[in-house]
Amino acid sequence: ASQRIPLVAGNWKMNFDHLEATYFVQQLAWKLRDIHFDYRHCEIALMPSFTSLRSVQVLVESDNLKIHYGAQAVSVTSQGAFTGDVSADMIAHLGCSYVIVGHSERRKYHPEDDANIVDQVRAVLAAGMQPILCVGESYEERRKGIELDFAVGQVHDVTRDLSDEEASRLIVAYEPIWAIGSGMVATPQSAQDAAKAIRDDLAETFGTHVGESVRILYGGSVSSKNAEELIGEPDVDGFLIGGAALNVDELTRICQLT
Ligand code: G3P
Repeated sequence: ASQRIPLVAGNWKMNFDHLEATYFVQQLAWKLRDIHFDYRHCEIALMPSFTSLRSVQVLVESDNLKIHYGAQAVSVTSQGAFTGDVSADMIAHLGCSYVIVGHSERRKYHPEDDANIVDQVRAVLAAGMQPILCVGESYEERRKGIELDFAVGQVHDVTRDLSDEEASRLIVAYEPIWAIGSGMVATPQSAQDAAKAIRDDLAETFGTHVGESVRILYGGSVSSKNAEELIGEPDVDGFLIGGAALNVDELTRICQLT
């Protein structure tokens, strides 16, 4: 068995204001306490909107909760005349552990290309946090049968200039675009195939140690109905969850199964 501790990360996308966010975190913490959840065997992280991060921080710190949190994107610049942007240091100073980078929705609705995503990864690492780098093919690439090369290529292009130490702090989320919010989950075998292919490529570029230590998550229509099967795969180290992370019972259940 691997030494990697599974991670269940909830990507709330543009849902919940700061009141709803803190209420959710409080409820989740209560439910996990009631079932004597063992945080040593599964790490839990939530990615609220920027506007909720400070409220979540205050709650987590005052109640000493073992729930981690992070942001959904970051500016590539550190400060200055960039209206509307939020820097990695600002996010880190709110106690964030993670930042999602390169989510397919950001690649689609914002001008995030590989060069920008590389810079985001570097900014997150420099601020002492871990990037959750999202990759995954569209339906078109899957239809052509090139999904593995595509996902591996996306990781490779973004990470190849990192140092071994930087690469070891990455988390990768394999999220096939056709599976996001569609109810069409990847089969455990195809999630495993993608995770393994990504891991092998990281090992080849940065050495076995990095390949073995990087956590690779699956994302796309994860629910309490499919989580157990997916986590049974040797290279799937947890989940990046959208819709199911907006329901506290469903999220609790997935954490239990992971
Ligand atoms: O980042 C997670 C997300 O894209 C998956 O969304 O709703 O299919 O779980 P969902």
